[in-house]
Amino acid sequence: MTVHIAPSILAADFTKLGEEVRAVSENGADSIHIDVMDGHFVPNLTFGAPIISAVRRATTLPLDVHLMIEQPERYLEQFVQAGADMLTVHVETCPHLHRTLQAIHDLGVRAGVALNPHTPFELIREILPDVERVLVMTVNPGFGGQRLIPRTLNKVAQIRTAIAALGQPIELGVDGGVDCSTIGELAHSGADVFVAGSAIFGAAEGVAAAIAALRAAAARDRHTV
Ligand code: DX5
Ligand code: ZN
Repeated sequence: MTVHIAPSILAADFTKLGEEVRAVSENGADSIHIDVMDGHFVPNLTFGAPIISAVRRATTLPLDVHLMIEQPERYLEQFVQAGADMLTVHVETCPHLHRTLQAIHDLGVRAGVALNPHTPFELIREILPDVERVLVMTVNPGFGGQRLIPRTLNKVAQIRTAIAALGQPIELGVDGGVDCSTIGELAHSGADVFVAGSAIFGAAEGVAAAIAALRAAAARDRHTV
C-alpha cells in the first residue's frame, strides 16, 4: 500500500502561506489539504475560495479541499474554479449524497466522502463505488492539534475490508491527530492517505524532516499488516 502525505494548511503560518505551501511541496508532500469550515457544521470558521486560489498559485500538487460546511453543493463550482482537484464532503451534511458526488464529478474533479468519528461505516456503504476517497475523521472536525480518538481505528479497518471486497482503487484517508506516534497504527489499520497539520507545520525540526519521519513511521509499522 502507498503512503500519501497531505499537509493540512490549517496549521501553516498564514503570514507566509505561499512559502509554507512551497516548502511542503518541495519536500515530499503528495497533495495539499485545505480545510474549509463554516461555523455551522463545525464550531470554527476558516477560509474559502480566495485562499484556495492563492494556494493554487503556490504549488502544482493536487489540492484536496475538505468541506466542513452545510449545503456544500452551493460552493462546489466556485471551489473547482479556484483550483481544487478533489472535493471531499461530509456524509452528515449531504441528504442527497449521490447527487452531490455526481455534481463534483460533473465539474471534472475527484470526489471524497468524510465521516465524523461517531458516524458508522454503514452510512457510506452504498456510496463507496461512487467515490475516489473515503476520509475518516479521527478527531471531531473543527480544529487542528487534537488527540486522535483511538476507537476510530476500527472503522478504518472496517472500511479497508469493504474497499478490498469491492476491488476498486478507493483511497482511505485519515484526518486528525496524525503524527509519528499514531501513523503506524493507522497504516496498519488500512489507511493510505494521511492528513497532518500540526505534525508537519508545527514541527521544530522543519517540514522536510517531519514529512520524512511520518513516511518512515508509517512504513515501519506496515509490515505487520
Ligand atoms: C480538522 C481538520 C484537519 C486538521 C488536522 O477538523 O479537518 O485537517 O487540520 O490537524 P492536526 O493534524 O493538527 O490534527
Ligand atoms: Zn481536514
